[in-house]
Amino acid sequence: MAEVVIVPSAEAAGELVADSIAALIATKPDAVLGFATGSTPLPVYRALQSRGLDLSAVRGFALDEYVGLPPGHPESYRAVITREVVEPLGLRPELVRVPGDDGGPLEGAGGRYERDIVSAGGVDLQLLGIGRTGHIGFNEPGSSFGSLTRVKTLTVQTRADNARFFDSPDEVPTHCLTQGLGTILRARHLVLLAFGEGKAPAIAAAVEGPLTASAPGSAVQLHPRVSVVIDEAAASQLVNADYYRYAWEHRLPWENL
Ligand code: GLP
Repeated sequence: MAEVVIVPSAEAAGELVADSIAALIATKPDAVLGFATGSTPLPVYRALQSRGLDLSAVRGFALDEYVGLPPGHPESYRAVITREVVEPLGLRPELVRVPGDDGGPLEGAGGRYERDIVSAGGVDLQLLGIGRTGHIGFNEPGSSFGSLTRVKTLTVQTRADNARFFDSPDEVPTHCLTQGLGTILRARHLVLLAFGEGKAPAIAAAVEGPLTASAPGSAVQLHPRVSVVIDEAAASQLVNADYYRYAWEHRLPWENL
């Protein structure tokens, strides 16, 4: 089962996940981190920044990227990862990859990204947010649990949700390149974060719902090591919330995230 940790705030989640990343880096300074975009992982990046760790050997792979934005667009995930992760945390830009950033053609970009992840030794810790459609990365409902990095079409809901980052809703691309659910499941530790009531149905479906491609987040139930770190609002539709609280309160000394 996933370890579900219900925290009082997004800041508390950021600190807890930063503890886990700091512990990983202490034992493996060149760890491979899987970065997520969106607003959800920002408290983790802020908490990491405040610790002043040396992350110069860390390698990183972003989950996804829009297709079709002009190069250097401030809302491209390449630009977001540079702004929110690489620069504030002192990572080396050449060690951090975003799908489709290798200068090659879009066709085949997914396969090349997969090969690059494998060559780096795989992802040690993958941060994940979740969309209101239940997507992780940009794996919209219907995505195969075995899927690898590929071009996907965004849903109307996801384009509307992400319109807040653009000047007009029409500017939101219709397509993206995203790691597949199969890619994500190869990471050694998944950390799924969610905050706010709007995420409660997607979290309930991911954690307690049936395993179904209609709820792509439910793929995490197949993974041997998953930490779901959420606030009370995002946990509000979990049937077994009291048990998760009890289990976390009674965790054994070595059972950290
Ligand atoms: C985006 C990203 C996802 C992210 C999700 C939630 O579309 N591709 O990786 O998890 O939407 O975004 P937010 O964290 O801003 O709610």
